[in-house]
Amino acid sequence: MSILVPYLSDAMVRVTELAAIAAERLAGRGDEKAADAAAVDAMRQAFNNIDFKGRVVIGEGERDEAPMLYIGEEVGTGLGPEVDIALDPLEGTTLTAKAMENALAVLAISPRGGLLHAPDTYMDKIAVGPGLPANTIDLDATAAENVVEIAKAKGVGVSEITACVLDRPRHMEIIESLRSAGARISLISDGDVAGVINTTNPQTGIDLYIGQGGAPEGVLAAAALKCVGGQMQGRLRFRNDDERKRAERVGITDYNKKYDLSELASSETVFCATGVTKGCLVDGVMRSNGRVETDTLIMSSADRMIRRIRSSHSIE
Ligand code: FBP
Repeated sequence: MSILVPYLSDAMVRVTELAAIAAERLAGRGDEKAADAAAVDAMRQAFNNIDFKGRVVIGEGERDEAPMLYIGEEVGTGLGPEVDIALDPLEGTTLTAKAMENALAVLAISPRGGLLHAPDTYMDKIAVGPGLPANTIDLDATAAENVVEIAKAKGVGVSEITACVLDRPRHMEIIESLRSAGARISLISDGDVAGVINTTNPQTGIDLYIGQGGAPEGVLAAAALKCVGGQMQGRLRFRNDDERKRAERVGITDYNKKYDLSELASSETVFCATGVTKGCLVDGVMRSNGRVETDTLIMSSADRMIRRIRSSHSIE
């Protein structure tokens, strides 16, 4: 039987719902830290009402820098299944502070050891959705070479391919490479977990995610792809020795390793994302007539199940 028993999946929906509701109260207030803290606090409280032995492997930071949901923190009542958790109570702190689209409360759970223990550094990422031949993408090829391969695999011209890229100066080379090949680029200001997941939904028009973002977000996105299918590769990027030491502390010895999807998320997983602000993945938190509505995407790799859960919560 699957270790990720159904009650646990339902409980995880409640966790991201409560984090999203807490964060949304602070949407548009220009205070990223307050919105993040509210989401963290709500998520931690929600975890601690659930019968499970949860261990945070991707969290808010290391123990000495994060008061709650730090890497290694144990959550839950201590009864029930043992799982590892990757979480981001507020993916898109700036998006929330500015009341912009696509902020999410996200988490993924796996049996112990099922998620890469990634340090809080950057990661080079490349991802496509399901249905393409194996090895269509390669992190070591140029962005142009990748879109040519994707176009071939999809049987369309490169001009029909759209790549999603975080709008950052560090991505100039990637953007130029994509443009030289003739691909379209959808630039996003933040939120690359949604950026990766959007490659799995033809309605978004996104064929490829490429670029450098947070490594924790890379593992969360990989957990989501593991549920829907798709291909992803990632490589940790370090800016200094402190970041290398962080990697060392979570057991990483090969600093240059190219991780495949099956290494980023190696075991069965359940992924959950509730919208804070509205977005292409899910709707944001809405308040009306004394109630709060949430929209959550929950996916499970064991049965490739994808569900959307709209909940109406009492304001209390
Ligand atoms: P936050 O929620 O921590 O603000 O992260 C948002 C995000 O856009 C991630 O989705 C992405 O992986 C990362 O920031 C990119 O980092 P940077 O803003 O430093 O380029």
